[in-house]
Amino acid sequence: MKVLEVENLRAYYEKALILRDVSVDVGKRETVAILGPNGAGKTTLLKSIVGLVKTEGKIKFNGEDLTGLKPHERIRKGISICQEGRRLFPDMTIEDNLRLGAARKDCDDELEFVYSIFPELKKRRNHIAKMASGGEQQMAAIGRALMAKPKLLLMDEPSMGLAPIAIWRIRDAIKKIQKETETQILIVEQNIRLAFDLADRVNILIKGEIVERGTADSLKSLEKRYFELL
Ligand SMILES: Nc1ncnc2c1ncn2[C@@H]1O[C@H](COP(=O)(O)OP(=O)(O)OP(=O)(O)O)[C@@H](O)[C@H]1O
Ligand SMILES: [Mg+2]
Repeated sequence: MKVLEVENLRAYYEKALILRDVSVDVGKRETVAILGPNGAGKTTLLKSIVGLVKTEGKIKFNGEDLTGLKPHERIRKGISICQEGRRLFPDMTIEDNLRLGAARKDCDDELEFVYSIFPELKKRRNHIAKMASGGEQQMAAIGRALMAKPKLLLMDEPSMGLAPIAIWRIRDAIKKIQKETETQILIVEQNIRLAFDLADRVNILIKGEIVERGTADSLKSLEKRYFELL
């Protein structure tokens, strides 16, 4: 059974159709990437999965239909989202931001795990979030999503606005998450290298439609095709 199954999903803002019959799934221990340019509908797809957007079609999590469930109910089932633009509480410390992501009050073990992935954050635990660098803020946003020990981690452009060296640091951390947890990951990205480095499968989303899909063996040719499709 797949962990996530999205079938013929349509999403609307008012009357505008943004996602056109999008189907995508994530299997056990898999990382799946959605690669697409600005405005393709990547954020809309992740928001749809957590119930923040009006949709038609099917979204199943561990075989269970999520239709009609509120965002907090979906999150309680084990879905975490690391949103576009980090969305930290700027005047709270890094550690208090992390604690907000936990599903329970006593979350010292989760905190230690996040610090093992991001030792940088441990050093800065008492700094207020807005003083942290862009890379550290992204680490904190990912760390906060991990605090709930999700079964499915949704990541919205973790590379956004970061210098290459910070992007590669984030990539290595995500690889560690893949190795050390049982979390499935659905990542949406514009950074083609990051998407292909991390994912078992890549789907190309353009103007609300999945136009190409590839597995590990076809990734190289898919990478070439992506630039042709843009
Ligand atoms: N709240 C909204 N109301 C109306 N239209 C919206 C809203 N949010 C996004 N859109 C439109 O939906 C389309 C898809 O937007 P979305 O944010 O999902 O794209 P994206 O792939 O995440 O882009 P980016 O890479 O810039 O983050 C765009 O045309 C955008 O203008
Ligand atoms: Mg987006």
